[in-house]
Amino acid sequence: MKIAIIGGGPAGLYSAILLKKQRPDAEITVYERNRADDTFGFGVVFSDATLDNFEKYDSPSYRRITQEFAYWDDIAVHFRGTVHRVGGNGFCGCSRRKLLLILQERARELGVTLTFEADIEDEARFADADLVVLADGINSRFRDRYIEHFQPEVDLRSNVFAWMGSTRPLDAFTFIFQETEWGPFIAHAYQYEAGRSTWIFETDPQTFKRAGLEGLNEKQSADRMAGIFGWFLEGHQLLTNRSMWRNFPMIRSKRWVKDNMVLLGDAKATAHFSIGSGTKLAMEDAIALADAMQRAPTVEAALRQYEDGRREEVEKTQHAADVSLVWFEHVDRFWDFDPVQFAFGVMTRAKAITYDNLTLRAPDFVSEVDKAFAKQVRAQGFDVDVEKPVAPMFQPLRLREMELANRAVVSPMCMYSAKEGVPGDFHLVHYGSRATGGAGLIFTEMTCVSRDARITPGCTGLWNDEQEAAWRRIVDFVHANSAAKICLQLGHAGRKGATKLMWDGMDRPLEEGGWDVLSASPIPYFPDSQVPREMDRAAMDAVKAAFVQAAERGEACGFDMLELHSAHGYLLASFISPLTNQRSDAYGGSLANRLRFPLEVFEALRAAWPSHKPMSVRISATDWAEGGITGDDAVVVARAFAEAGVDLVDVSTGQTVRDAQPVYGRMFQTPFSEQVRNEARVATMCVGNITTSDQVNTILAAGRADLVALARPHLVDPSFTLKAAAWYGAEAVFCPPQYLPGKEQIFRNSVRDRQDFDDLKIKAKPKTRAELKAEATKPLAAE
Ligand SMILES: Cc1cc2nc3c(=O)[nH]c(=O)nc-3n(C[C@H](O)[C@H](O)[C@H](O)COP(=O)(O)OP(=O)(O)OC[C@H]3O[C@@H](n4cnc5c(N)ncnc54)[C@H](O)[C@@H]3O)c2cc1C
Ligand SMILES: Cc1cc2nc3c(=O)[nH]c(=O)nc-3n(C[C@H](O)[C@H](O)[C@H](O)COP(=O)(O)O)c2cc1C
Repeated sequence: MKIAIIGGGPAGLYSAILLKKQRPDAEITVYERNRADDTFGFGVVFSDATLDNFEKYDSPSYRRITQEFAYWDDIAVHFRGTVHRVGGNGFCGCSRRKLLLILQERARELGVTLTFEADIEDEARFADADLVVLADGINSRFRDRYIEHFQPEVDLRSNVFAWMGSTRPLDAFTFIFQETEWGPFIAHAYQYEAGRSTWIFETDPQTFKRAGLEGLNEKQSADRMAGIFGWFLEGHQLLTNRSMWRNFPMIRSKRWVKDNMVLLGDAKATAHFSIGSGTKLAMEDAIALADAMQRAPTVEAALRQYEDGRREEVEKTQHAADVSLVWFEHVDRFWDFDPVQFAFGVMTRAKAITYDNLTLRAPDFVSEVDKAFAKQVRAQGFDVDVEKPVAPMFQPLRLREMELANRAVVSPMCMYSAKEGVPGDFHLVHYGSRATGGAGLIFTEMTCVSRDARITPGCTGLWNDEQEAAWRRIVDFVHANSAAKICLQLGHAGRKGATKLMWDGMDRPLEEGGWDVLSASPIPYFPDSQVPREMDRAAMDAVKAAFVQAAERGEACGFDMLELHSAHGYLLASFISPLTNQRSDAYGGSLANRLRFPLEVFEALRAAWPSHKPMSVRISATDWAEGGITGDDAVVVARAFAEAGVDLVDVSTGQTVRDAQPVYGRMFQTPFSEQVRNEARVATMCVGNITTSDQVNTILAAGRADLVALARPHLVDPSFTLKAAAWYGAEAVFCPPQYLPGKEQIFRNSVRDRQDFDDLKIKAKPKTRAELKAEATKPLAAE
């Protein structure tokens, strides 16, 4: 077999090694345009998990790599004169140049031919090769040559960065967030060998300009950085090596394989440097390719297996990198945070590290985070313990005069079980059991303001006395038997009205018994849905009046809070999104115009709703669709509602148009809550695929939301909050007296269960290489 590999970076060299080990008879040549020891950049990092993989696949190169590595366990965050250190991270740094020399040496030993100073123009010269590996890096010539086939998507990010080096020793992966007269600068720095560290500097384009960095040469910009970070460099030099300022290109290719050619490493996909995974991805691509070549009967089948098997893992890493880079791009959102909360945000930004995970690794750090959180709560006037605080989830919150005992919320969920809008026994048991289950706040399902405002025939309503009495019964039960507050969500279905019950076909039009539907514009949801009537002024007045009457009935029922549903493509949302609002009057066009009617309804409700009771609005912070609402629009929307007196923005997303492309994942809507909260400076509630109390605490402690709502988890577990309280030892959680023996038991068992769980986790966690090295070098006298 003949294999040609274009590019002698980590991907090209490692694939050459693994393929040659597998097929000693194969003729494998690596073509590299640079000389053997030319290399840009300074260090690379690997996690312990990646090194375990290298050990399994090629032990000789692994051993040489690890001999050359600098190990560290801690991440240190420097911000506003403070340093927070968190251990247990297990990372290693290595010089990129040494890594490449080790891989070259190993490849030669195995009989791979390495051809340097060979800039490959055309792959036609490899017509006789069975496999051509395109490992030619981020600016891949061959990916671009077959651009129509590979379909790369290049997203050039807004921040600029430059990769430099220094002689400053470091004993931790170090993030420095530096305020300057021009704006914030960030340094990502780590040591990779004795006396050498990598320094990646990053800033936003405006700060870059204001700092006068534009047009400076490498030496001048290094001097400017040394001026900014001089206090930390302690007289050490900054070194340059093609250290030009650039924008990071996030690359994703639709296809990775063309005939017998395959893209590997940065050529096919990149991951932002802030999660240090570029070289890892490149070398793990080589592993995946070698595995596929081992298993599959033909090269063609192997390449198919490589692409099919590897894509998910690469996309997962890219997603984590995306989340991380966005955090760094918007660091100004957190700039006025308490430093420990800021550091917690840095640690948990990419979702892999959580509150519970940090409690195990760095209990003192988490205790400081809890104390800072409790102090903020105390500043709100609550007499909470700031020395031994409960976890953030169990801290109270005040909205106007309504006090919530904790931050866990039952999200609004239609039960599709009402008769003519009247909630029945099912609803009493449903809401009642969730209230006694411990959540601080319970939302009703979308309750419709008139008969023709319903989504389905099973939706609840609040337009007549019978409905009012039925809701009062539920509210009274909640108040009499729990500490939960209950919020009425009012809505109008708009063009999604007159549709089937969820289990008969969500959003599908009713075949019989339907009613006329309204919307901002006459655009049906599905092509075969009813064409809604475009609302005229008279219809707007009627709808507004129906909302106000329902709110007055809500007050008569005793609800503690009112939410206006302006999300998910229902009537008010249909005004806000440009995808559903194509009006040419004062209610269409600009976002300010599109907001006019929803704000009018909100203001009317605010005037009718008692001033001591809070109000929220649910919004879709993105339509997940081309040309639709984005996170930046959501900030404008939130500000407009805040000015009109909203106390909380309930940040959901999507469901506006049927061909949306949501990016699902754990806590997938939380970034929008974070953006709205910290840009519009309004309290938010986040929701969406949040399933554990650990996630709830992580979100709250990082300042990404003020309340956390869970919908589906509450469907199967009404006592979600009570159980979480036992786990975190939050004794004060309310429990009805009838259930107290159950509470006592779960609290008693939880202490032991948690201890066992933590012990198991600690035992199961392999020692990091830094820990092993520290043990091996510990002087005997210290034993
Ligand atoms: C600022 C910055 C910081 C980074 N920090 C880290 C980090 O901390 N940790 C980490 O793991 N990764 C980091 N990376 C990423 C890392 O450098 C790359 O992800 C990794 O090197 C990708 O390996 P590769 O083999 O795919 O590509 P490359 O390493 O780019 O190798 C491609 C090779 O192909 C050669 N080549 C290109 N075209 C041709 C041609 N036509 N003919 C012959 N040869 C050709 C090039 O000369 C090059 O040697 C960082 C990257 C940047 C830009
Ligand atoms: C059965 C069901 C009914 C729902 N009904 C409503 C509703 O009436 N009003 C609303 O704003 N959201 C409604 N939602 C959306 C949820 O409130 C929540 O935003 C969504 O399910 C994501 O949260 P989760 O991942 O915790 O389930 C409903 C969700 C479910 C599963």
